[in-house]
Amino acid sequence: MDTFDTLLQGESPAFLNLLRSARMAARTDVTLLLLGESGTGKELLANSIHGESLRKDKPFIAINCAALPEALAESELFGHRKGAFTGASEHTLGRIKAAEGGTLFLDEVGELPLAVQAKLLRFLESSECHALGETKPVKVNTRIIAATNRDLNEDVKQGQFRKDLFYRLNIVPLQLPALRERHGDIEKLITNFTAQLARLHGLDAPRYSVPAIEQLQRYDWPGNIRELRNFCERMLVLLSGQVIKPGNLPIEMQPQIKTSVGSGGFALPEGGIILEELEMDLIQQALDKSHGNQSKAARLLGLTRSALLYRMKKHAIA
Ligand SMILES: Nc1ncnc2c1ncn2[C@@H]1O[C@H](COP(=O)(O)OP(=O)(O)O)[C@@H](O)[C@H]1O
Ligand SMILES: [Mg+2]
Repeated sequence: MDTFDTLLQGESPAFLNLLRSARMAARTDVTLLLLGESGTGKELLANSIHGESLRKDKPFIAINCAALPEALAESELFGHRKGAFTGASEHTLGRIKAAEGGTLFLDEVGELPLAVQAKLLRFLESSECHALGETKPVKVNTRIIAATNRDLNEDVKQGQFRKDLFYRLNIVPLQLPALRERHGDIEKLITNFTAQLARLHGLDAPRYSVPAIEQLQRYDWPGNIRELRNFCERMLVLLSGQVIKPGNLPIEMQPQIKTSVGSGGFALPEGGIILEELEMDLIQQALDKSHGNQSKAARLLGLTRSALLYRMKKHAIA
């Protein structure tokens, strides 16, 4: 058992692949870029990499670049001398220096102001940390692990992120899979989180029925593992000791449209619908699900292929 096994749960192929790369990277000092949607575990992974590195007895400091006011970002990272600017009443070390010997995790690195990006690049290339108001930079041995949920490539194109810094950070990119790409892990994560939270709250864990688990595996999980953990906590508190059925799940996790073949079909919402839009939307969904295969899409909609083509033409769907 290493830090990864202790902290990070998951056995799906995409996740195991990631762990294999992370284990190798942990033994080096190379700068890493963690990519993935919010809640996929970037910070936890950074922490685990630090824990498996030779730096593990030195500080791990995490900083969220999106939360830094632009005017303070530079001094937060690089520090400043007392009196370096108006309001600089204390000498401040800066996070890079504070993490000396250890690891600095720069979350949402895409949000750093351009001027600070230039200074970060200089640090990555020379290990030189130049505090505001100091005459000379000092060498600091801090490993940087950066993370983003943005498409930095796109930001580079838009001129919002420095190309040279992007290349420097992107030497070893590690992609965290979204939870919806880790179907096989959902049940185990639910069981483990539920047991852990039940102990924490001193409550009896609920049990999840098979149809409930299947429904949860179909859900999109836009908030990823963070959303899953919060969901487990909510179910634990509200349904402690009970068996959870699909009907107990929050509305957003229920099947999008309830069709009960033969017993009335769709339930028309109080506010009504726009039939044409619904039809267009369902056709689009069927095409998405079948990856553009019109015969498959037609089958999903209970139409012949020619009837589907007719309707696609009507709605000008390409
Ligand atoms: N593989 C995992 N196993 C167990 N818990 C996880 C895993 N990945 C993430 N978590 C938990 O999910 C939540 C979100 O993780 P975090 O690292 O903050 O995500 P991100 O930085 O990508 O937004 C945290 O509570 C974290 O402990
Ligand atoms: Mg985070």
